[in-house]
Amino acid sequence: MTCTSSDNNHTLPVELEAAVINFLKSSLLVLGVASFGMGAGSSLAQNDVKIGFIVKKPEQAWFINEQDAASALGEQKGFEVVRLSGEDGQQVLSAIDNLNSQGAQGFVICPPDVRLGPAIANRAQQYGMKVVTVDDQFLGPDGEPMAEVPHLGMSGYKIGRQVGDAIAKEMKARGWEPQSVAALRISNNELPTAKERTDGATDALLDAGFVSDNIFDAPQQNTDTSSAFAAASPIFSKNGRFEHWVIYALNEESVLGGVRASEQYGLAPDQVIGIGINGSGAAFAEFSRQKPTGFYGTVAVSSTMHGRQSADNLYTWITEDKQPPANTETTGTLMTRDNWEQVREDLGL
Ligand code: GLA
Repeated sequence: MTCTSSDNNHTLPVELEAAVINFLKSSLLVLGVASFGMGAGSSLAQNDVKIGFIVKKPEQAWFINEQDAASALGEQKGFEVVRLSGEDGQQVLSAIDNLNSQGAQGFVICPPDVRLGPAIANRAQQYGMKVVTVDDQFLGPDGEPMAEVPHLGMSGYKIGRQVGDAIAKEMKARGWEPQSVAALRISNNELPTAKERTDGATDALLDAGFVSDNIFDAPQQNTDTSSAFAAASPIFSKNGRFEHWVIYALNEESVLGGVRASEQYGLAPDQVIGIGINGSGAAFAEFSRQKPTGFYGTVAVSSTMHGRQSADNLYTWITEDKQPPANTETTGTLMTRDNWEQVREDLGL
């Protein structure tokens, strides 16, 4: 066979053969240059990637940690992360304008209000930017989650149940009679992930025999400590007949607001079991106090993973045109004074 083909080759006139060889050589050269060019081009493209990371509460440890983790990933992979605050709709829209003028290709966002979803997604689309949400998922005009925007967040209901189970267990350990115990539920029903978390905790408590009439709502305006404190204070003064209190909310910052209000009202730490969610600096500071407070624990979730993974999803979408999963749900681990340092290390916090 080889023979035949070489015979065939030899049927070509010498000039033609030389021309073919030259052509092949130059094509290879061109291909080589082209592929070198592509290599250089794609690494250039990678170095040119710039993404925004916009958060609703830039001063909270949870969000600082998320942005830190995204920046660290950017340094590792060679893209730039622009950290921005978006504490209201106006600030978010100017942050997006700002990103566009800097040539960013997309952004990760935890919005200040989930109902801003359509406005934010529109602005991103106008600029041809990709957007993914972290923590709080956009709601569409129909009030349903905007499934077309990839999201990464906590499995709120499950984590809420962990909070409720842990409270019930500690009530038992302290030998509290259910009739003597009230619950301060700091609620934020406008935010679906918040409602899922507090609903999960409530269901777990009721399953464990908690008296449903003893649950009191303290609706907060915001997701921070001061709004929780303001919401919680009147609940204690109006319900002075209860000897013991449990406190839960969408996050530990809010539970801390409730605990501070219980202290101001005059309850002792052993009369209160507050369990939060997040596992960030706010909880570490509380666990580091010499004496225990009513803040018993928190279900820790890796904000490092949230920041890193959401940024990575967006980066892969930009560079490889691979759309991230529609919804990624993360889980948590109970952290108390006894194990917080270990859990912190395990979750890379
Ligand atoms: C919400 C809360 C934050 C944090 C994140 C985690 O955004 O406000 O404190 O719990 O969810 O997903």
